Parts: sequence; C-alpha cells; structure tokens
Amino acid sequence: MDLMKTLVASTAICAASAASAVELEVTHWWTSGGEAAAVAEFAKAFNETEHTWVDGAIAGSGGTARPIIISRILGGDPMHATQLNHGRQAEELVEAGLMLDLTDVAEAEGWADVVNPVRLLDACTLDGRVYCVPVNIHSPQWLWLSHDAFEKAGLDVPSDWFQFVDAAPALKEAGVVPLAMGQQSWQTNLAFGAIMVAVGGTDLYVDILTNKNADAAASAEMTKVFEAFAAARLLSEGSNVQDWNQATNLVITGKAGGQIHGDWAQGEFQVANQVAGEDYTCLPGLGVNEIIATGGDAFYFPKTDDPEITAAQKELASLMISKEVQVAFNLKKGSLPIRGDVDLSAANDCMKKGLAILAAGNVLPDGVNSFSADTDGQINDLMVEFWNDTSITVEDAQARYADIIANAD
Ligand code: GAL
Repeated sequence: MDLMKTLVASTAICAASAASAVELEVTHWWTSGGEAAAVAEFAKAFNETEHTWVDGAIAGSGGTARPIIISRILGGDPMHATQLNHGRQAEELVEAGLMLDLTDVAEAEGWADVVNPVRLLDACTLDGRVYCVPVNIHSPQWLWLSHDAFEKAGLDVPSDWFQFVDAAPALKEAGVVPLAMGQQSWQTNLAFGAIMVAVGGTDLYVDILTNKNADAAASAEMTKVFEAFAAARLLSEGSNVQDWNQATNLVITGKAGGQIHGDWAQGEFQVANQVAGEDYTCLPGLGVNEIIATGGDAFYFPKTDDPEITAAQKELASLMISKEVQVAFNLKKGSLPIRGDVDLSAANDCMKKGLAILAAGNVLPDGVNSFSADTDGQINDLMVEFWNDTSITVEDAQARYADIIANAD
C-alpha cells in the first residue's frame, strides 16, 4: 500500500513537472570568452531542471545591450529573464509594473539574511517588494599587469599606479604599449573613476558620485585627478582596439603592460589559462587606495500572464542565488559572490584580495547607483573625447565635468 502511494505520488510529480517544462529566453551581454564561460554555469544549472535555457546573448557591451533589452520590454516583446546592472537601470520598468515580483521567493529563502552587502538587495527593492536577484559583485577599480611585459622591459612588476607610470618609458622602449585601452566610451570613464579613487581619495569620489557636489568637481583636488588622467592618456598610444576584452588580451599576450579595468577582466585571464600572481598581477584600487565598489549584475524577470512561465522564472531566480551556482558562476566570472556563506576554497589570488577588502568593509557606493543613464552618458562622452583629443586641456575638461555634475540627476 505504501509502495502504491509512493508510485502514485511520484507519477503525479513527474506528470506535473513534465507539463510545466518551459523554455526561458534569457538575455545578457556576456559574450567575451570569460563571460560566456561564466553564464554557461547558469544555463547548465537551469537545464538540469526540467526547463530549458534559451540563450539570448547580445553582442557588444552593456551600452549596446541595455537599450535593446529595455525597448523589447517596453515594446511588448519581452524576454523571460534579463541581466542588468545593480542600480537604477530597471527603475522605470519596475515602476511601470512590467517586472515580476519575486518577494515570495526572497522571503521564503531569506535573501535579506544572506545577501552581503544587503544594499544589493535594496537596489532590487521598491516599496518593500523585490524585483530582481543580485548575482555578483563587480568592481571597476583594478589595474591588471602582464608579467611578461615587465620582464621584456627588465623591470619588476609595479605595486601601484605611480610605479606603473614611472615604468612606462622603459615599456615603450621594449616595444610594449604601456596602457591598453579600448575605444568604447565607458572604458575611458571607468579608468577615470579608478584614477579618481586612487589619486583623489574616497571622500572626493563619494562627494562627487554620490552627493553630486559640483564644487568638489571643480576643486583643486579634482584638478590633480584630471592631470593624472591626462598623463594616462599619453600611455595608450598603439592600443588600437575597440572592445574591453581585446584590451585585456593585449595584457594577456604581453603586448601591453597593463589595463585599468573591472574584475570581469579576470575571466579572460582564466580562459587563457593564466595564473594570478604568476602570469599576471591585479592591483585593487590601483594599488594606491585598496577599496572596491559593489556594483555588478542582477537578473530581472519581465511579467507574463502564463503561470507556468512565472513558476519557471522564480525557479531560475532561486537557482541563480543558490550556494553552488553562486560559487560556480563567480569563480569563472571574476566577480565576488553576493552571499558570504559559500565555500570559496577555490578562489584565486585576485578573488582573495577582493574578498579581504569586502570583509574589511572598504567599499564604495557605486556611481551607477546614483547617476541617471543620461548623466552617465554625458560623462562617458566627455571622458572618451578628452582621452582621444590631447588638445583638450585639463582646465577645459574639468570645467565641462563640473558643469555636468552641477546638472546631474
Ligand atoms: C558590466 C557587467 C559585467 C561585465 C562588463 C563587461 O556592465 O557588470 O558583468 O561583464 O559589463 O561586459
């Protein structure tokens, strides 16, 4: 009888799950080697359920993908799940009632107790309801250095940005481009932000990026930041690449000495089988001010009126934040997991540095959390123009920057 009951029950479960097996289209902009390896961990875990992951990778970077993602949702052709960054990018979509409310899953699984720092969950929350699942912590303030390149120049690997700048002439002489820089405008702005934290310090950074203080943007401390950025733009001559991962590749192959870039660069070193501390060195806060920002990625699930899809969307959200998937995904992505209760014994040198900084609480509010997409766009444009046109003076650039901050929203 007991056996009979079990059989009946398991047949019912099979029938229920077979009936609810669905395909979910998931969009993201993870198309570099390291990114693709990381997102494959999500797909693998989801495909191990009865459901199917339909990959909707969008080539380019966030700047290309975000408008496509948002216009599909607004235009009534939504995907079932999508990557966006932590912060305000989905604000209007959530306000318009277009995103699935994940509060029941978040409460059942105690997300508020496991997400660390908890403000990553706050960024998913509107009026007490949870609309996204944070999946990682990424920080842009890193300097990636090629051991090969410094060996070619007969130099030790620098331990901070200032030593790196001093090493540039010897690198050039050895036929190495000192600083790799891709031409997407957000890359130059990312480097500017990293230099701002290193040279200008945390208070100045927060005052401008969080408080939107235009006087701080026009200050003498900020002039020093612009001067350092102006010096940096002279180091990238010969770095004729577009995408960030092509710039990382110049470092991996020893054609460039370094790159200022986010820790997603680490995924590229990993797929190239390079070892942190042996083949390359990563310096958080450019080795000057060891601090990280807690930006990163979150997944949102556009609402549908199909209950089977809704159930599968919640299942995917739950998987993405689960312990094993957090470890598998983040080890490949180069990011830190968003929960502290996971086994990170396999972490490499760079992830360990990031974890130690996070544990010490040396974290910045991320710029993307406080500026609108429009303000970010204006700053990106200014930075790439300044980088590429050396006739623009520090004074001019700083005045334009202070003006953007004065009108920032
Ligand atoms: C960021 C994203 C990272 C990343 C990078 C480059 O917006 O948070 O995960 O991979 O873009 O594609």
